[in-house]
Amino acid sequence: MQTASALFDQRTDALLAKLRAEGLYKHLQMIESPMDAAIRIRGEDGKPREVLCFCSNNYLGLANHPEVVEAGIQGLKDFGAGTASVRFICGTFSPHETIEKSIARLMGTEAAYTFVSAWTAAEALFPTACEPGDIIISDELNHACIIDAIRLTTVIKKGVFKDVYKNNRLDGEGSLRAALERARANKDITGQVWVVTDGVFSMEGSIADLAKMRRLCDEFNAILVVDDSHGHGVMGKLGRGTHEYCNMVRPLDGWDQKPVNGEVDVFTGTLGKALGGGAGGFVAGSRRLIELLIQRGRPTLFSNALPVTVACSANKAIEVLLREPQRVARLRDNVAYARKKIKEAGFDVLESPTAICPIIVHDTAKAIAMSKRLLELGVFVIGFGYPVVPEGHARLRCQISAAHTKAHIDQLVASLRKL
Ligand SMILES: Cc1ncc(COP(=O)(O)O)c(C=O)c1O
Repeated sequence: MQTASALFDQRTDALLAKLRAEGLYKHLQMIESPMDAAIRIRGEDGKPREVLCFCSNNYLGLANHPEVVEAGIQGLKDFGAGTASVRFICGTFSPHETIEKSIARLMGTEAAYTFVSAWTAAEALFPTACEPGDIIISDELNHACIIDAIRLTTVIKKGVFKDVYKNNRLDGEGSLRAALERARANKDITGQVWVVTDGVFSMEGSIADLAKMRRLCDEFNAILVVDDSHGHGVMGKLGRGTHEYCNMVRPLDGWDQKPVNGEVDVFTGTLGKALGGGAGGFVAGSRRLIELLIQRGRPTLFSNALPVTVACSANKAIEVLLREPQRVARLRDNVAYARKKIKEAGFDVLESPTAICPIIVHDTAKAIAMSKRLLELGVFVIGFGYPVVPEGHARLRCQISAAHTKAHIDQLVASLRKL
Protein backbone atom coordinates (compact mmCIF):
# COMPACT_ATOMS: atom_id res chain seq x y z
CA MET A 1 0.00 0.00 0.00
CA GLN A 2 1.28 3.48 -0.85
CA THR A 3 1.82 5.85 2.04
CA ALA A 4 -0.48 8.84 2.42
CA SER A 5 2.35 11.21 1.52
CA ALA A 6 3.21 9.23 -1.65
CA LEU A 7 -0.45 9.38 -2.72
CA PHE A 8 -0.52 13.12 -2.04
CA ASP A 9 2.71 13.60 -4.04
CA GLN A 10 1.18 11.76 -7.01
CA ARG A 11 -2.01 13.79 -6.93
CA THR A 12 -0.10 17.07 -6.62
CA ASP A 13 2.33 16.19 -9.43
CA ALA A 14 -0.59 15.38 -11.71
CA LEU A 15 -2.25 18.72 -10.96
CA LEU A 16 0.96 20.69 -11.51
CA ALA A 17 1.68 18.79 -14.76
CA LYS A 18 -1.82 19.67 -15.99
CA LEU A 19 -1.24 23.36 -15.24
CA ARG A 20 2.06 23.23 -17.17
CA ALA A 21 0.46 21.41 -20.12
CA GLU A 22 -2.36 23.98 -20.31
CA GLY A 23 0.05 26.94 -20.19
CA LEU A 24 -1.48 28.04 -16.87
CA TYR A 25 1.56 27.52 -14.68
CA LYS A 26 2.66 30.68 -12.88
CA HIS A 27 6.30 31.56 -12.37
CA LEU A 28 7.32 33.73 -9.45
CA GLN A 29 9.39 36.56 -10.86
CA MET A 30 12.42 37.29 -8.69
CA ILE A 31 12.93 41.01 -8.08
CA GLU A 32 16.32 42.15 -6.91
CA SER A 33 15.73 45.85 -6.30
CA PRO A 34 13.18 47.96 -4.40
CA MET A 35 9.73 48.33 -5.97
CA ASP A 36 9.63 51.34 -8.28
CA ALA A 37 8.72 52.45 -11.82
CA ALA A 38 11.80 50.56 -13.04
CA ILE A 39 12.98 47.45 -11.20
CA ARG A 40 15.76 44.89 -11.52
CA ILE A 41 14.57 41.34 -12.06
CA ARG A 42 16.46 38.06 -12.31
CA GLY A 43 16.45 37.07 -15.99
CA GLU A 44 15.98 33.47 -17.16
CA ASP A 45 19.76 33.23 -17.51
CA GLY A 46 20.09 34.16 -13.84
CA LYS A 47 21.50 37.59 -14.71
CA PRO A 48 19.86 40.82 -13.50
CA ARG A 49 17.77 42.80 -16.00
CA GLU A 50 16.15 46.20 -15.73
CA VAL A 51 12.45 46.33 -16.70
CA LEU A 52 9.60 48.80 -16.30
CA CYS A 53 7.07 47.66 -13.74
CA PHE A 54 3.39 48.02 -14.67
CA CYS A 55 1.92 45.42 -12.34
CA SER A 56 2.57 46.65 -8.83
CA ASN A 57 -0.01 48.37 -6.63
CA ASN A 58 2.65 50.94 -5.76
CA TYR A 59 0.25 53.59 -7.06
CA LEU A 60 1.88 56.60 -5.43
CA GLY A 61 5.48 55.44 -5.71
CA LEU A 62 5.82 55.40 -1.92
CA ALA A 63 7.13 51.83 -1.50
CA ASN A 64 10.71 53.05 -1.83
CA HIS A 65 10.21 56.65 -0.71
CA PRO A 66 13.20 57.62 1.49
CA GLU A 67 11.00 58.92 4.33
CA VAL A 68 8.81 55.81 4.27
CA VAL A 69 11.86 53.53 4.36
CA GLU A 70 13.53 55.59 7.09
CA ALA A 71 10.37 55.53 9.26
CA GLY A 72 10.39 51.72 9.09
CA ILE A 73 14.08 51.59 10.05
CA GLN A 74 13.47 53.94 12.97
CA GLY A 75 10.53 51.79 14.10
CA LEU A 76 12.79 48.74 14.03
CA LYS A 77 15.44 50.54 16.07
CA ASP A 78 12.96 51.89 18.62
CA PHE A 79 10.78 48.83 19.07
CA GLY A 80 12.74 45.83 17.78
CA ALA A 81 11.39 43.18 15.45
CA GLY A 82 7.88 42.96 16.85
CA THR A 83 5.56 42.49 19.79
CA ALA A 84 5.93 38.70 20.08
CA SER A 85 2.33 38.77 21.21
CA VAL A 86 -1.23 39.32 20.13
CA ARG A 87 -2.51 42.83 20.71
CA PHE A 88 -4.70 42.22 23.77
CA ILE A 89 -2.01 40.40 25.74
CA CYS A 90 1.06 42.60 25.41
CA GLY A 91 1.19 43.36 21.71
CA THR A 92 0.19 47.00 21.25
CA PHE A 93 2.98 49.52 20.68
CA SER A 94 2.44 53.26 20.43
CA PRO A 95 2.96 53.20 16.58
CA HIS A 96 -0.20 51.05 16.40
CA GLU A 97 -2.15 53.78 18.16
CA THR A 98 -0.59 56.40 15.84
CA ILE A 99 -1.32 54.59 12.57
CA GLU A 100 -4.88 53.80 13.64
CA LYS A 101 -5.54 57.48 14.36
CA SER A 102 -4.05 58.40 10.95
CA ILE A 103 -6.19 55.83 9.15
CA ALA A 104 -9.37 56.99 10.92
CA ARG A 105 -8.61 60.62 9.99
CA LEU A 106 -7.90 59.68 6.37
CA MET A 107 -11.10 57.64 6.11
CA GLY A 108 -13.20 60.17 8.02
CA THR A 109 -14.31 57.62 10.62
CA GLU A 110 -14.31 57.66 14.41
CA ALA A 111 -11.79 54.87 14.76
CA ALA A 112 -9.74 52.20 12.99
CA TYR A 113 -7.94 48.98 13.87
CA THR A 114 -5.06 47.32 12.04
CA PHE A 115 -4.41 43.70 11.07
CA VAL A 116 -1.56 41.93 9.30
CA SER A 117 -3.49 42.17 6.00
CA ALA A 118 -6.76 43.37 4.48
CA TRP A 119 -7.60 39.70 4.09
CA THR A 120 -7.41 39.25 7.86
CA ALA A 121 -9.34 42.49 8.39
CA ALA A 122 -12.26 41.13 6.33
CA GLU A 123 -12.10 37.82 8.19
CA ALA A 124 -12.23 39.74 11.47
CA LEU A 125 -15.05 42.07 10.49
CA PHE A 126 -17.89 39.90 9.23
CA PRO A 127 -17.68 36.87 11.54
CA THR A 128 -17.42 39.21 14.54
CA ALA A 129 -19.99 41.85 13.63
CA CYS A 130 -22.67 39.60 12.12
CA GLU A 131 -25.17 37.65 14.22
CA PRO A 132 -27.71 34.95 13.32
CA GLY A 133 -30.65 36.54 11.51
CA ASP A 134 -28.34 38.99 9.65
CA ILE A 135 -27.75 38.89 5.90
CA ILE A 136 -24.66 39.95 3.94
CA ILE A 137 -25.38 41.07 0.38
CA SER A 138 -22.26 41.11 -1.81
CA ASP A 139 -21.29 42.24 -5.33
CA GLU A 140 -20.38 39.23 -7.47
CA LEU A 141 -16.97 40.74 -8.33
CA ASN A 142 -15.93 41.52 -4.77
CA HIS A 143 -12.40 40.51 -3.86
CA ALA A 144 -11.74 36.93 -2.78
CA CYS A 145 -11.16 38.03 0.83
CA ILE A 146 -14.73 39.34 1.06
CA ILE A 147 -16.12 36.18 -0.51
CA ASP A 148 -14.16 33.94 1.86
CA ALA A 149 -14.96 36.13 4.89
CA ILE A 150 -18.67 35.76 4.11
CA ARG A 151 -18.28 31.98 3.73
CA LEU A 152 -16.44 31.87 7.06
CA THR A 153 -19.17 33.93 8.73
CA THR A 154 -21.91 31.55 7.65
CA VAL A 155 -19.89 28.64 9.08
CA ILE A 156 -18.94 30.31 12.37
CA LYS A 157 -22.34 31.90 12.92
CA LYS A 158 -25.05 29.55 11.72
CA GLY A 159 -28.12 31.53 10.72
CA VAL A 160 -26.28 34.34 8.92
CA PHE A 161 -27.63 34.57 5.37
CA LYS A 162 -25.85 35.67 2.21
CA ASP A 163 -26.93 36.89 -1.20
CA VAL A 164 -25.04 38.07 -4.29
CA TYR A 165 -25.95 40.67 -6.94
CA LYS A 166 -24.56 41.27 -10.42
CA ASN A 167 -21.51 43.50 -10.62
CA ASN A 168 -22.45 47.14 -10.04
CA ARG A 169 -26.11 46.44 -10.95
CA LEU A 170 -28.17 48.47 -8.53
CA ASP A 171 -31.64 48.19 -10.12
CA GLY A 172 -33.57 45.57 -12.08
CA GLU A 173 -33.06 41.83 -12.40
CA GLY A 174 -30.15 40.39 -10.40
CA SER A 175 -29.56 43.76 -8.76
CA LEU A 176 -28.75 44.99 -5.28
CA ARG A 177 -32.28 46.40 -5.02
CA ALA A 178 -33.72 42.97 -5.88
CA ALA A 179 -31.54 41.35 -3.19
CA LEU A 180 -32.61 43.97 -0.64
CA GLU A 181 -36.26 43.33 -1.50
CA ARG A 182 -35.75 39.56 -1.07
CA ALA A 183 -34.13 40.18 2.30
CA ARG A 184 -37.05 42.38 3.39
CA ALA A 185 -39.53 39.66 2.41
CA ASN A 186 -37.61 36.90 4.22
CA LYS A 187 -39.14 36.38 7.69
CA ASP A 188 -35.96 34.64 8.92
CA ILE A 189 -33.92 37.79 8.40
CA THR A 190 -34.59 39.54 11.66
CA GLY A 191 -31.24 41.28 12.22
CA GLN A 192 -28.99 43.63 10.30
CA VAL A 193 -28.68 43.86 6.55
CA TRP A 194 -25.05 44.31 5.42
CA VAL A 195 -24.22 45.45 1.90
CA VAL A 196 -20.59 45.02 0.87
CA THR A 197 -18.77 46.17 -2.23
CA ASP A 198 -15.26 46.85 -3.43
CA GLY A 199 -14.77 50.59 -3.97
CA VAL A 200 -12.50 49.92 -6.97
CA PHE A 201 -12.94 46.49 -8.52
CA SER A 202 -9.46 45.04 -8.66
CA MET A 203 -9.74 43.11 -11.91
CA GLU A 204 -11.98 45.55 -13.83
CA GLY A 205 -10.62 48.88 -12.66
CA SER A 206 -14.25 50.03 -12.44
CA ILE A 207 -15.76 51.79 -9.42
CA ALA A 208 -18.87 51.24 -7.32
CA ASP A 209 -21.53 53.95 -7.35
CA LEU A 210 -21.28 54.49 -3.62
CA ALA A 211 -23.66 57.48 -3.51
CA LYS A 212 -26.45 55.48 -5.11
CA MET A 213 -25.64 52.49 -2.91
CA ARG A 214 -25.89 54.73 0.15
CA ARG A 215 -29.37 55.85 -0.91
CA LEU A 216 -30.45 52.23 -1.43
CA CYS A 217 -28.99 51.22 1.95
CA ASP A 218 -30.89 54.07 3.60
CA GLU A 219 -34.12 53.00 1.88
CA PHE A 220 -33.69 49.43 3.20
CA ASN A 221 -32.02 50.31 6.51
CA ALA A 222 -28.81 48.51 5.58
CA ILE A 223 -25.18 48.99 6.62
CA LEU A 224 -22.74 49.88 3.79
CA VAL A 225 -19.29 48.27 3.92
CA VAL A 226 -16.61 49.16 1.35
CA ASP A 227 -13.32 47.36 0.70
CA ASP A 228 -11.39 50.15 -0.99
CA SER A 229 -7.97 48.53 -1.13
CA HIS A 230 -7.35 49.87 -4.66
CA GLY A 231 -9.05 53.22 -3.97
CA HIS A 232 -7.21 54.41 -0.86
CA GLY A 233 -4.36 56.68 -1.93
CA VAL A 234 -5.75 56.78 -5.46
CA MET A 235 -9.32 58.06 -5.70
CA GLY A 236 -10.52 61.58 -4.92
CA LYS A 237 -8.60 64.82 -4.90
CA LEU A 238 -6.60 63.97 -1.77
CA GLY A 239 -6.50 60.24 -2.47
CA ARG A 240 -8.70 59.42 0.51
CA GLY A 241 -10.62 56.85 -1.50
CA THR A 242 -13.64 56.14 -3.67
CA HIS A 243 -15.85 57.73 -1.01
CA GLU A 244 -13.97 61.01 -1.49
CA TYR A 245 -14.45 60.69 -5.26
CA CYS A 246 -18.19 60.20 -4.61
CA ASN A 247 -18.39 63.21 -2.28
CA MET A 248 -18.96 61.04 0.77
CA VAL A 249 -16.21 62.10 3.15
CA ARG A 250 -16.01 64.71 5.88
CA PRO A 251 -13.21 67.29 5.57
CA LEU A 252 -9.98 66.03 7.14
CA ASP A 253 -10.43 68.10 10.28
CA GLY A 254 -14.10 68.94 9.98
CA TRP A 255 -15.81 66.23 11.97
CA ASP A 256 -19.07 68.25 12.20
CA GLN A 257 -19.45 68.63 8.43
CA LYS A 258 -21.44 65.76 6.97
CA PRO A 259 -20.82 65.12 3.26
CA VAL A 260 -23.61 65.78 0.75
CA ASN A 261 -23.99 62.19 -0.44
CA GLY A 262 -23.98 60.52 2.97
CA GLU A 263 -21.24 58.30 4.35
CA VAL A 264 -19.88 54.80 4.18
CA ASP A 265 -20.46 52.96 7.49
CA VAL A 266 -17.43 50.66 7.50
CA PHE A 267 -14.23 50.39 5.45
CA THR A 268 -11.76 47.62 5.02
CA GLY A 269 -8.52 48.42 3.26
CA THR A 270 -4.89 47.52 2.83
CA LEU A 271 -1.60 49.20 3.70
CA GLY A 272 0.07 46.91 1.16
CA LYS A 273 -0.70 48.94 -1.96
CA ALA A 274 -0.66 52.78 -2.27
CA LEU A 275 -0.24 53.42 1.47
CA GLY A 276 3.38 52.27 1.75
CA GLY A 277 3.20 48.91 0.04
CA GLY A 278 4.60 46.84 2.93
CA ALA A 279 1.65 44.83 4.18
CA GLY A 280 -1.17 45.26 6.64
CA GLY A 281 -4.86 45.96 6.58
CA PHE A 282 -7.49 47.75 8.59
CA VAL A 283 -11.12 48.13 9.50
CA ALA A 284 -12.30 51.74 9.91
CA GLY A 285 -15.70 52.67 11.30
CA SER A 286 -17.49 53.64 14.49
CA ARG A 287 -15.71 53.48 17.83
CA ARG A 288 -18.10 50.83 19.10
CA LEU A 289 -17.48 48.59 16.06
CA ILE A 290 -13.73 48.81 16.68
CA GLU A 291 -14.31 48.04 20.37
CA LEU A 292 -16.31 44.98 19.39
CA LEU A 293 -13.46 43.80 17.10
CA ILE A 294 -10.95 44.28 19.92
CA GLN A 295 -13.13 42.33 22.36
CA ARG A 296 -14.38 39.56 20.11
CA GLY A 297 -12.53 39.37 16.77
CA ARG A 298 -10.78 36.02 16.44
CA PRO A 299 -7.84 37.41 14.40
CA THR A 300 -7.55 40.14 17.06
CA LEU A 301 -7.52 37.67 19.92
CA PHE A 302 -5.44 34.91 18.38
CA SER A 303 -3.05 36.48 15.86
CA ASN A 304 -0.03 38.77 16.18
CA ALA A 305 -0.07 42.53 15.70
CA LEU A 306 0.89 44.36 12.52
CA PRO A 307 4.73 44.50 12.52
CA VAL A 308 5.77 47.82 13.97
CA THR A 309 8.12 48.61 11.05
CA VAL A 310 5.11 48.42 8.75
CA ALA A 311 2.99 50.54 11.08
CA CYS A 312 5.70 53.25 11.07
CA SER A 313 6.23 53.12 7.27
CA ALA A 314 2.51 53.20 6.53
CA ASN A 315 1.98 56.10 8.88
CA LYS A 316 4.71 58.04 7.06
CA ALA A 317 3.14 57.11 3.71
CA ILE A 318 -0.18 58.62 4.83
CA GLU A 319 1.67 61.74 6.01
CA VAL A 320 3.38 62.10 2.59
CA LEU A 321 0.09 61.47 0.78
CA LEU A 322 -1.65 64.30 2.64
CA ARG A 323 1.37 66.61 2.43
CA GLU A 324 1.84 66.11 -1.33
CA PRO A 325 -1.55 65.97 -3.06
CA GLN A 326 0.38 66.57 -6.30
CA ARG A 327 1.26 62.83 -6.23
CA VAL A 328 -2.42 61.94 -6.57
CA ALA A 329 -2.79 64.56 -9.32
CA ARG A 330 0.22 63.09 -11.17
CA LEU A 331 -1.27 59.62 -10.88
CA ARG A 332 -4.55 60.91 -12.30
CA ASP A 333 -2.71 62.51 -15.27
CA ASN A 334 -0.70 59.34 -15.88
CA VAL A 335 -3.83 57.20 -15.79
CA ALA A 336 -5.64 59.43 -18.32
CA TYR A 337 -2.56 59.47 -20.58
CA ALA A 338 -2.06 55.69 -20.39
CA ARG A 339 -5.71 54.92 -21.18
CA LYS A 340 -5.66 57.27 -24.17
CA LYS A 341 -2.43 55.79 -25.55
CA ILE A 342 -3.44 52.16 -24.97
CA LYS A 343 -6.69 52.81 -26.83
CA GLU A 344 -4.85 54.52 -29.68
CA ALA A 345 -2.72 51.37 -29.95
CA GLY A 346 -5.92 49.47 -30.75
CA PHE A 347 -6.60 47.77 -27.40
CA ASP A 348 -9.90 47.82 -25.56
CA VAL A 349 -9.51 49.35 -22.14
CA LEU A 350 -12.29 50.26 -19.77
CA GLU A 351 -12.90 54.01 -19.26
CA SER A 352 -12.43 54.83 -15.58
CA PRO A 353 -10.46 57.13 -13.28
CA THR A 354 -8.78 54.22 -11.48
CA ALA A 355 -5.13 53.18 -11.90
CA ILE A 356 -6.09 49.71 -13.14
CA CYS A 357 -6.21 49.32 -16.94
CA PRO A 358 -7.21 45.78 -17.89
CA ILE A 359 -6.82 44.66 -21.51
CA ILE A 360 -9.18 41.72 -22.03
CA VAL A 361 -7.72 38.88 -24.14
CA HIS A 362 -10.17 36.13 -22.95
CA ASP A 363 -7.86 33.10 -23.06
CA THR A 364 -5.67 32.47 -19.98
CA ALA A 365 -2.79 30.82 -21.88
CA LYS A 366 -2.79 33.78 -24.31
CA ALA A 367 -2.67 36.28 -21.44
CA ILE A 368 0.28 34.45 -19.91
CA ALA A 369 2.08 34.23 -23.30
CA MET A 370 1.54 37.96 -23.95
CA SER A 371 2.86 38.81 -20.52
CA LYS A 372 5.96 36.69 -21.20
CA ARG A 373 6.58 38.48 -24.50
CA LEU A 374 6.15 41.89 -22.86
CA LEU A 375 8.78 40.96 -20.30
CA GLU A 376 11.18 40.08 -23.12
CA LEU A 377 10.49 43.58 -24.45
CA GLY A 378 11.41 45.06 -21.06
CA VAL A 379 7.92 45.67 -19.66
CA PHE A 380 6.55 43.74 -16.70
CA VAL A 381 2.75 43.33 -16.96
CA ILE A 382 0.96 40.33 -15.52
CA GLY A 383 -1.61 38.21 -17.35
CA PHE A 384 -4.52 37.07 -15.17
CA GLY A 385 -6.67 34.06 -15.91
CA TYR A 386 -8.81 31.51 -14.13
CA PRO A 387 -9.22 31.18 -11.11
CA VAL A 388 -8.35 34.84 -10.44
CA VAL A 389 -10.94 35.94 -13.01
CA PRO A 390 -13.79 33.83 -14.46
CA GLU A 391 -13.00 31.37 -17.27
CA GLY A 392 -12.93 33.22 -20.65
CA HIS A 393 -12.19 36.63 -19.07
CA ALA A 394 -8.38 36.48 -19.02
CA ARG A 395 -6.62 39.79 -19.24
CA LEU A 396 -3.41 41.74 -19.06
CA ARG A 397 -3.70 44.11 -16.14
CA CYS A 398 -1.64 47.29 -16.55
CA GLN A 399 -1.31 49.28 -13.35
CA ILE A 400 -0.22 52.87 -13.48
CA SER A 401 1.76 54.71 -10.82
CA ALA A 402 2.59 58.30 -9.99
CA ALA A 403 6.21 57.12 -10.19
CA HIS A 404 5.88 56.49 -13.96
CA THR A 405 6.95 59.16 -16.41
CA LYS A 406 5.24 59.75 -19.75
CA ALA A 407 8.29 58.10 -21.37
CA HIS A 408 7.67 54.94 -19.30
CA ILE A 409 4.05 54.85 -20.43
CA ASP A 410 5.15 55.41 -24.06
CA GLN A 411 7.46 52.39 -23.73
CA LEU A 412 4.58 50.29 -22.37
CA VAL A 413 2.42 51.25 -25.33
CA ALA A 414 5.20 50.70 -27.87
CA SER A 415 5.67 47.19 -26.48
CA LEU A 416 1.94 46.51 -26.57
CA ARG A 417 1.95 47.56 -30.22
CA LYS A 418 4.63 44.95 -30.95
CA LEU A 419 2.29 42.24 -29.65
C1 LIG B 1 -9.91 44.63 -3.23
C2 LIG B 1 -8.88 43.96 -2.41
N1 LIG B 1 -9.14 43.71 -1.13
C3 LIG B 1 -8.24 43.09 -0.34
C4 LIG B 1 -7.02 42.70 -0.82
C5 LIG B 1 -6.06 41.97 0.08
O1 LIG B 1 -5.14 42.84 0.62
P1 LIG B 1 -3.99 42.28 1.56
O2 LIG B 1 -2.86 41.93 0.66
O3 LIG B 1 -3.68 43.38 2.50
O4 LIG B 1 -4.56 41.09 2.27
C6 LIG B 1 -6.68 42.94 -2.14
C7 LIG B 1 -5.35 42.52 -2.64
O5 LIG B 1 -5.15 42.14 -3.74
C8 LIG B 1 -7.64 43.58 -2.96
O6 LIG B 1 -7.36 43.80 -4.25
